Amino acid sequence: MKADFLPQTNPLESLDEWEDDLLTRYPDPETIVQNKTVEEYRDYENTTRDTVKEFYKLNHTYQTYDFVMQKRNDYLKFDKKKMPVWSAFEFLNQLVDDSDPDTDLDQFQHLLQTSEAIRRDGHPDWMVAVGLIHDLGKVLCLFGEPQWAVVGDTFPVGCAYSDKVVYPEFFSLNSDYNNEVYSTKNGVYEEGCGLRNVTMSWGHDEYIYHIAKERIPEEGLYMLRYHSFYAWHREGAYDHLLDDHDRAMLKWVKLFNPYDLYSKNPTPPNWTELKPYYEDLVAKYLPAEIRF
Ligand SMILES: [Fe+2]
Ligand SMILES: [Fe+2]
Repeated sequence: MKADFLPQTNPLESLDEWEDDLLTRYPDPETIVQNKTVEEYRDYENTTRDTVKEFYKLNHTYQTYDFVMQKRNDYLKFDKKKMPVWSAFEFLNQLVDDSDPDTDLDQFQHLLQTSEAIRRDGHPDWMVAVGLIHDLGKVLCLFGEPQWAVVGDTFPVGCAYSDKVVYPEFFSLNSDYNNEVYSTKNGVYEEGCGLRNVTMSWGHDEYIYHIAKERIPEEGLYMLRYHSFYAWHREGAYDHLLDDHDRAMLKWVKLFNPYDLYSKNPTPPNWTELKPYYEDLVAKYLPAEIRF
């Protein structure tokens, strides 16, 4: 992560810290048995929980309904930058994590490990493409957005918060918390209206969804748009806003999640070998030029 932000604005030493924290909340049972003892997980929690907690405090405080609307108006114009698709991946890689250079892979390696794990399991090629691009929206950081407006668990805004969202106690700091409409169960929405009619907190999921929405099948779009909506896909919250289509799509979001969380490996994939496959894949599912 570039160091040009104030620490109180960006408490995480790197964006990966949020994702590493997800592993303490949702550990892979196999990973625990093979590589890490429960003790080590606890050690990790002690050293990083505070920064993650501070991060969520900011996230829950400032992700108001108005803030999200403002960001949508700004970013969904896609007037920030235009670049060939492979340059977009290079652009993303400017998000270098200098806190822990020995163990952390760059952003592209995480994308490639996710897509390769999906490919190894024989899933359709559009899902491999989803793995490859799912975090591309993190370029928001390079446009000057603070960490709390790019990563972290996402949740609906404009209605009551679920206590299944991580650190729910911090929502009392949000100015929407006492709003007479936004604080009601359904808020600005109708019961069972479907997630497509629900505005989510702003971040890299929603942004990449809009970039990819003309090109990727519906199941893949759900994976992109809701991969950080843990309160839904892991905790089963917000059922009152769902429709049958969301319920049918949930299994795809759940299918994707372990590839994102548990595919990290210190050995980088062999890009030279993989390149021809990915060039074809990208040509099939992404525009030659990406507009941010
Ligand atoms: Fe992500
Ligand atoms: Fe990811």
